[in-house]
Amino acid sequence: MSIRGIELISFRNHDNLPIEFSHGLNVIWGENGSGKTSILEAIYTLSMGRSFRTSNRRHMIQKEKDFFRIVGNFEFHGSTTNVAMSQLQDGRKKTTINDEAIKGFKPLIGKNPVVLLSPEEQCITKGVPAERRRFFDKLFSVASYDYLLALTDFNRVLKQRNMALSAVKEGHRPPSSIHPWNEPLAEKAQKIWEMRENFWKRYNNHLKKVVEKLNDSGVELNGRYISRTLVTKEEFLDSLEKSERRDILLQRTTSGPQKDEYDFLFNKEDLRQFGSQGEHKLALILIKLAEFKFIQELNDTTPIILLDDVLAKLDFQRSEYVMSLLEKNVQTIITTTNLVNVESHGIDVKNTNNMSLYLERACSN
Ligand SMILES: Nc1ncnc2c1ncn2[C@@H]1O[C@H](COP(=O)(O)OP(=O)(O)OP(=O)(O)O)[C@@H](O)[C@H]1O
Ligand SMILES: [Mg+2]
Repeated sequence: MSIRGIELISFRNHDNLPIEFSHGLNVIWGENGSGKTSILEAIYTLSMGRSFRTSNRRHMIQKEKDFFRIVGNFEFHGSTTNVAMSQLQDGRKKTTINDEAIKGFKPLIGKNPVVLLSPEEQCITKGVPAERRRFFDKLFSVASYDYLLALTDFNRVLKQRNMALSAVKEGHRPPSSIHPWNEPLAEKAQKIWEMRENFWKRYNNHLKKVVEKLNDSGVELNGRYISRTLVTKEEFLDSLEKSERRDILLQRTTSGPQKDEYDFLFNKEDLRQFGSQGEHKLALILIKLAEFKFIQELNDTTPIILLDDVLAKLDFQRSEYVMSLLEKNVQTIITTTNLVNVESHGIDVKNTNNMSLYLERACSN
């Protein structure tokens, strides 16, 4: 999998920027605020349908402009997929795959996978459990369209049950109006749990291998998937009934896949509570590498690697490790404020397989 080129129009600080990428290492460099992360954001948005920096697409429209448009050409086994997206200030938006309009962003997920390593992603190790759930939900959706559909289904029923709970709490409905949602919820929950178990096992295998390969005796990273209510459908239905009064009081369903947790242990201690900054950074690299291997296995394609400013935040030994992981035949797009950061690791940006792009910061910045 690779991206051949992209065009950014009125996107963040870029007026009109066409870029052609090489198959190997692409280095985007320039001062702070020159628009490096914005380029990765555009690629990520074309891959995942949404940005990693904002949930409001309109924020990506260049100030004082009416719209943004981004167009990318992805290549897989010699055939090209054109993905174009535009967003207007008035809320209208359009996404096309090979000139055919799509509804929502589901059709994009998993088609042109990317793995992003950026400071924003650090919330996977540092954030609340919901951040890790979101990370794995996204990853499993990239790997399996069935998972994405099952999750959407489950969330829809969960929302409906929660609305019924609110209606009961407020006295608009009798408690029995909740019951019709229990069976479909349990059915959909069961499906999610089965798929999570399966995907988690595969992901965790990759994580173990990645940590082994690091071969650093001071580093032990273990992942855990904790499903609090992984039980038979009947048991889950039972627990829904038992917690009904509490659920009504809180106006939300308190057991189910929406409560599952994923944890990481660094040298046997909970990373989130006890990890040092360096440990968090290293753990994220390992987690992302396992993500890369997982997608490679399940999607049968090599994701594009997006590295946002990672070298600047690591000591030389650790960045040497990151660079050594960039296997041949993997397209990587890396941003840095200084080309030397990359060149000091023996990377020759003039090699025909590589490319470098310098971004000038506008004077007004
Ligand atoms: N909607 C927008 N319209 C115009 N400019 C924007 C918009 N959103 C962000 N910017 C500006 O675009 C510039 C580039 O941001 P970006 O994060 O891509 O820079 P960067 O090169 O990654 O910087 P750094 O090295 O500090 O990470 C910033 O100055 C930012 O304030
Ligand atoms: Mg940046």
